[in-house]
Amino acid sequence: MITAEAAGTWKLGDQVVNRMGFGSMRLTPNADRDAAIRVLRRAVELGVNHIDTAAFYVTPGGILDHGTGPKRYATELIREALFPYDKSLFLATKVGPGLRPDGEWETAVTLSQLRAQVEENLRRLQVDRLDLVNLRLTSRTAPVGPRFEALASLRDEGLIRHLGISNATLAQIDEAAAVAPLVSVQNSFAVDLQRDASLVAEMTERGIAFVPFFAIAGPGREDGPTTATPDAVREIALTHHVSEHQVRLAWTLHQGDNVLAIPGTGDEQHLLDNIAAGARRFSEEELARLA
Ligand SMILES: NC(=O)c1ccc[n+]([C@@H]2O[C@H](COP(=O)([O-])OP(=O)(O)OC[C@H]3O[C@@H](n4cnc5c(N)ncnc54)[C@H](OP(=O)(O)O)[C@@H]3O)[C@@H](O)[C@H]2O)c1
Repeated sequence: MITAEAAGTWKLGDQVVNRMGFGSMRLTPNADRDAAIRVLRRAVELGVNHIDTAAFYVTPGGILDHGTGPKRYATELIREALFPYDKSLFLATKVGPGLRPDGEWETAVTLSQLRAQVEENLRRLQVDRLDLVNLRLTSRTAPVGPRFEALASLRDEGLIRHLGISNATLAQIDEAAAVAPLVSVQNSFAVDLQRDASLVAEMTERGIAFVPFFAIAGPGREDGPTTATPDAVREIALTHHVSEHQVRLAWTLHQGDNVLAIPGTGDEQHLLDNIAAGARRFSEEELARLA
C-alpha cells in the first residue's frame, strides 16, 4: 500500500510533514457524516499529517452548499475524527473572509473579527494553538499589512504557531513578509491553471512552502475536475496506467520540494488514488510535455 511518505517531506515551520497532505473543503458536502470521518481517519492511517481546513468550510449555507442534511463544519469533522491529535499532525487553517449568518460572504472584516475567526478555529478544532493560519485574501490589490500585524500579535500571544497567506500576489507576500515571517503561500495552481506559476519558483527560492489548491479541479475550480483535460495529461495517464487526476497531482509535486499537495476529496477511493499519485515519477521528457 502506498502511503503519504512516498511524496517526500517538507519542514513546514518547525515541523516536518509529508508533502502529500489533505484538503478538507470537500468533506462538508458529503451528506454521510460517518463517511467523511472515515476518509479523515484513513488519510491519517496512510501517513497524511498535514490537513488544510477553515472554519468557513461549512454546509449548508457555506461554500459548496449542496443543501443536504444538517450543518457540517470541516473543522468539527476533523476534531470528531482525529481528536486527541497525534503530535505529528499539522493542522493548517485560514481566516479572512467571514460567513454571515445568512450564508453570504463578508470580505471587509475588521481586526477584531479576525481575532474572532482565529478563536472560532481554536474552539471548533479544540486546540489551544493553531499550527498555521493563512490570511486568505479576497482582493489582489488591497493592503495586507494591518491584518497581518493583527495575526502576528495573535501569534505573539501564543494562539498561532505559524503564519501564511493565501490568494496573494508577490507584492502582497512581500508586504506580509515585512511584518512577520511566512511559512506558506496557498494559491490556486494546476497544470492548466497557471496564473501564479511565477510564484512557485520564487517561493522555492525563499524556502517558503507553496501549497496549491485546485491542483486536481484545475479551471473547474469549486465545481470540481474539468472534462477539458490537456492532451499531454491524458496521454501520460494512459502511459502510466493512472487517472488524469493522479497525473495532475503528481505534476504539482514535481514543481519543487516546497510544493505541498492538499487534494480535497470526500471519497475514500479517491483518497487512496491521490496518495498513490505521490509515488508517481515523470521523466524529463514527460515533464516537458506537461509544461
Ligand atoms: N485558500 C483557498 O482559497 C482555497 C480555496 C479552495 C480550496 N482550498 C483548499 O485546497 C484543497 C484542495 O482544493 P479543492 O478540494 O477545491 O480542489 P482539488 O483538490 O483540486 O479537487 C477536488 C475535486 O476533485 C475531486 N477529486 C479529488 N480526488 C479525485 C480523484 N482521485 N479522482 C476523481 N476526482 C477527484 C473531488 O471530488 P470527490 O470529493 O468526489 O473526490 C473534488 O470535486 C481544499 O480541499 C481546501 O482545503 C483552499
